[in-house]
Amino acid sequence: MLKGVAVRFDILFLFASNNFCKNFPFAILGTPTMGFRMRYFSIIIFLLYFSSAYGTQLLINHPQSESSDTVAEPGLKDVLSFPIGAAVKIKLLRNNAVYRKLIVQQFNSITAENAMKFNSLHPEPTVFRWSDADYIVDFAKANNIRVHGHTLIWSKFNPKWVTEFQGSRTDWENLLKTHVQSIVSHFQGKVASWDVVNEAFEDNGNYKSCIWLEKLGPSYIELAFRYAHECDPDALLFYNDYGHEFGGRKLQAILNMAKDFKRRGVPISGLGLQMHTVVRMEDAKIAKTLRTVAAAGLKVHISELEVSVRYQKPASFILDSNLALQQAEKYRAIFQAYQSIPKWQQFGITTWNVADADSFRNSKIKNHDFPLLFDLNYKPKAAHDVLMKRIRKK
Ligand code: XIL
Repeated sequence: MLKGVAVRFDILFLFASNNFCKNFPFAILGTPTMGFRMRYFSIIIFLLYFSSAYGTQLLINHPQSESSDTVAEPGLKDVLSFPIGAAVKIKLLRNNAVYRKLIVQQFNSITAENAMKFNSLHPEPTVFRWSDADYIVDFAKANNIRVHGHTLIWSKFNPKWVTEFQGSRTDWENLLKTHVQSIVSHFQGKVASWDVVNEAFEDNGNYKSCIWLEKLGPSYIELAFRYAHECDPDALLFYNDYGHEFGGRKLQAILNMAKDFKRRGVPISGLGLQMHTVVRMEDAKIAKTLRTVAAAGLKVHISELEVSVRYQKPASFILDSNLALQQAEKYRAIFQAYQSIPKWQQFGITTWNVADADSFRNSKIKNHDFPLLFDLNYKPKAAHDVLMKRIRKK
C-alpha cells in the first residue's frame, strides 16, 4: 500500500515538475510572479516528493556497496578477542538486506565464498572479471571489515583455458605468475591476506594430483607464495586445507612443508584449517591439532568452520534443541581451544557462510544440514548464544 502511495507521489511530481529542472529554488518556493495558490501548490508538491522519495528508499532496499550499513546491537565481533569472519555469497550480499545487516552486526572479517576463485576472476587468458569481488571489497571497506582472499591456486575451479593450456614449463610458470600477480596487485591494500594455495595434499600426505602438480611439480606451491609476496609484501599468505582438524598424515605433511618454507625463507605467514567438522568430533583432538599447528610458529586461521549435525540421519531430520545444544558445545570447545593459542597467532575464525539457509552443506550436497550459527531464518542459534555469553575477551 505504502509503496503505491509513494509511486503516486512520484507521478504527481512528474506532472508538476515542468519548471523544476530549469530553476530548482523556484520549484521549491514558487516563482516571484506565481499566485499564492500556485506557490502553495508548488511547496506541497516539493514536500510530497521528498517524503515519497524517502519512503520509496525505505520500502525498496537497494543496498549500495559503498555506503555503510548501520547496526546498533552488539554481535560476536564485539565480544571475541580475535577476528571473527564469514564466507559471503555475492548474490545475497547484493540483494538480501537481512543477510547484509547480520554480517555487519556480527563479523569483522569476510571471505568471498566463490567470487575470488580462479574461474570467477580470470575466465579467459586476458579477461579479468572484477565486479563481484570488488563489490565485496567495497562493502567491507565501508563497514570496517577485513577481507581474506580465497583462493589464488587450487586444483578446482580452473577455467577450461587453463586445464587445456599447452606450453613449456616456463609457459606454465608464466601462467601461474600472471594469474597470481594480476589478482594480488588488483587487491593490494584492500585484501589483507590470501589463501595462496588450497587443498594441495591427500589424506595420506601425498601431493594431490592436479594440473599444477602435473605441469610444475610440487614447486608450484612455493612459486605461488613467492609471486604473491613480490606483489604485496604486506599481505599475509596462508596455505589452506581440510580434513586434518583431528591430526593424521595430511596434517603432518602440511606442517613439514610449512617448516621447510620457513627454513628456506618462502614467505608463508600462516596455515588455514578449514574445519568443516562434525558434532561428534572429539574436543581433545581439535585442541591438540591447534596446539600442534601453533607450535609451527605461524598464524592459524580456522578458515571455513561448520559443525555438521546430520551425520547418518535421514534427510527429513530437523535440528532439535538437544542436538542444537550439542552443536553449541562443540562451537564453544573449538573457540575456547583457539583462544588458548598465543594471541599473535590468532588470525581469526571464519564460518563458511552466515546462516543454515545459505550453507554449502545445504546448497551443494542438499542434505539439509544445519551447521552454522544462524538458522534458516537468520535467527541466532544456541551456538551463537553460547559464544556470545561464554567466550569472553581475553
Ligand atoms: C565451496 C562453496 O561453498 C560452494 O558454493 C561451491 O559450489 C563449491 O565450493 N573448500 C573450499 C571452499 O576451500 O572454496 C569450498 O567452497 C568448500 C570446500
